[in-house]
Amino acid sequence: MESFLIKGGVPLHGEVTISGAKNAALPILAATLLTDEPCVIRRVPDLSDTRFMVQILQSLGATAKFENGTVTVHAKKIRGYADYELVRKMRGSICIAGPLLARLQKARISLPGGCIIGARPINLHLKGFASLGVKTKIEGGYIDATVKKLIGNTMFLGGRAGPTVLGTANVMMAATLADGVTVIESAACEPEVVDLANFLNAMGAQISGAGSPTITITGVKKLHGAEHEVIPDRIEAATFLIAAGATNGEVTLRGARADHLRAVIDKLSEAGVSVERSGADLIARRKGKLKPVDITTLPYSGFPTDVQAQMMSLLVLANGISIITERIFESRFMHVSELARLGADIEIEGPSAIVKGGKPLSGAPVMASDLRASAALVIAGLAAKGATQVNRIYHLDRGYEQMDAKLRKLGARIQRVEEK
Ligand code: EPZ
Repeated sequence: MESFLIKGGVPLHGEVTISGAKNAALPILAATLLTDEPCVIRRVPDLSDTRFMVQILQSLGATAKFENGTVTVHAKKIRGYADYELVRKMRGSICIAGPLLARLQKARISLPGGCIIGARPINLHLKGFASLGVKTKIEGGYIDATVKKLIGNTMFLGGRAGPTVLGTANVMMAATLADGVTVIESAACEPEVVDLANFLNAMGAQISGAGSPTITITGVKKLHGAEHEVIPDRIEAATFLIAAGATNGEVTLRGARADHLRAVIDKLSEAGVSVERSGADLIARRKGKLKPVDITTLPYSGFPTDVQAQMMSLLVLANGISIITERIFESRFMHVSELARLGADIEIEGPSAIVKGGKPLSGAPVMASDLRASAALVIAGLAAKGATQVNRIYHLDRGYEQMDAKLRKLGARIQRVEEK
């Protein structure tokens, strides 16, 4: 297995280009199953998750090619049964269910396992499908879903932690080919849902309200092929903004969307990291000493849960007490014990982490656990004195395109090595 070997203490300087958004690309790739015509998706980040999704499309019978960030898919004839091994490996693959139900009126996919950040239930996906007339049976780790004809309906998709992003995506995709009108109340408002709706409308769907808590989908008979460029990855952008602040550097982000980052930019400013717009670019630099801030993760447009771990790595450097409360996932503090190995002083109290920041970090071997926790460990390693080895970085390769190369270009001393 591979590790990152980081020699910390170097302020990051220079420019970095933000890749396409993983969490937009995955449902958009699934949406290409909705038509028997070819689709071209551009600015798809080259990640293990996106490569898995392309393999899943191929295992369903579609032809799919992934070259230089562009995926061409032609789902001329497909079957409704995805390869268990592939689907099991990636939670995001659950979003092939909606397109398969719309295209074939059936879908047999493996129950997506939970993961390290929480149970990851799909009850809201199934509730939405049931509202459209879908019958589902769960046995042997599979979901068998069938429907005679999808019938539009009004449904409430809010759950224990608010809206569901992929649940909204799944039901929206199924509803594009349903009979009649579907209204999703308490829909997710994330930019990735808006990007998916824009692609579906380019295919001939009739969707309005994406980005608001109420999305209306008027079913159509057929969808045609379309081309689309995926939005930039706001979570990758936030990660680099935070890395600039943590290393006391100055980094220019090319292609990031400031309008997708308002909560992050607001909190960074409060913490002493300024983020300025210069044309289409964003420039992050420290403004004096870092200050402690309190953060609560919320559904969009609140502070994103996918940036919580990275922010914690910044706040361990700020003199004083920061309280970080995770409201979306039930166990998303795996990075805390690893940050403690670098000298951070953090206590967990239920859904909150009490960060007693200001002690200097010193390098040590640490273990990546989930995608964003791994990013937090890289940021901490860049700020720590001495060498930090981040092990099991396959977690990172799921969601960050060439992270080590991008950081090296900014002056970081980071190498990808075989874990000893
Ligand atoms: C998406 O996951 C993202 N993944 C996650 O990013 C992100 O953290 C999450 O949205 C929240 O923003 C992709 O888009 C591939 P949810 P998703 O359904 O859709 C509960 C990353 O690091 N819930 O919005 O699976 C759930 O348990 C990943 O890139 C139900 O209760 O998340 C959670 O508490 C991690 N029932 C909350 O809702 C359901 O049926 C939000 O989950 C579905 C979800």
